[in-house]
Amino acid sequence: MNQQIFKFLLFFAAFGSLSCFEQYGSAKIGERCERDRNCIQHAYCRVQMTCLCNQYYSPTFDMSMCIASAGLSCTDDFACSTMANAECRQGVCACKDSYILDINNSSNCISKPSKMGDHCQRTDECQDALGRAMCINNRCQCISSYHFVNETAKCIQTRLLYNTCLMDYECRGFNNENVLECRNGECVCKEGEATCNKG
Ligand SMILES: *[C@@H]1O[C@H](CO)[C@@H](O)[C@H](O)[C@H]1NC(C)=O
Ligand SMILES: *[C@@H]1O[C@H](CO)[C@@H](O)[C@H](O)[C@H]1NC(C)=O
Ligand SMILES: *[C@@H]1O[C@H](CO)[C@@H](O)[C@H](O)[C@H]1NC(C)=O
Repeated sequence: MNQQIFKFLLFFAAFGSLSCFEQYGSAKIGERCERDRNCIQHAYCRVQMTCLCNQYYSPTFDMSMCIASAGLSCTDDFACSTMANAECRQGVCACKDSYILDINNSSNCISKPSKMGDHCQRTDECQDALGRAMCINNRCQCISSYHFVNETAKCIQTRLLYNTCLMDYECRGFNNENVLECRNGECVCKEGEATCNKG
């Protein structure tokens, strides 16, 4: 009797651990399935047809894995380590400071724009960084009659020849050249830039 109980327990121990390894299968994302357990880890079988990643997971490029994406519950940074440039923040995986979520891939955080010409996805990213700016062809550009200055790292209103000014960097020639300076509250030609008011 004791031996029978032992065999019985042994059987369940083996079966239990086996089923533990078989909680997921090998059907990749987009491949056919009948049950959730046919699909790879962190995936499910949608309408008994195809494997999809669970919520807060996204497929890798080759569809072979479902990796953490923004919004996944976490207790430490390791849980978010399959994301690029992410960390665990207030219990969910999120982009690190100065990174923003890739709109095409919720597991990928890309650098936020910080100056003119930096890569952007949407206009509000450029506005947050530079002020009067737009995202044009995936690059931050100042709106017209504004220009980017290193000194403030913002787009500021362009002051032309004889416009009022406070700082040298506000003044720009007609072709946005750096030929003017601010003297006595007015944009004027720099010393030695005698031709600056032509054109
Ligand atoms: C999304 O980004 C992650 C992190 O960079 C990468 O591992 C994954 O392959 C990307 N997914 C796709 C579909 O390109
Ligand atoms: C996202 O996808 C769109 C269209 O496929 C593409 O134009 C854009 O450059 C992509 N963005 C990034 C950050 O890769
Ligand atoms: C602005 O700064 C960048 C790097 O910090 C430098 O390469 C560039 O020449 C500077 N431009 C001006 C107009 O000072």
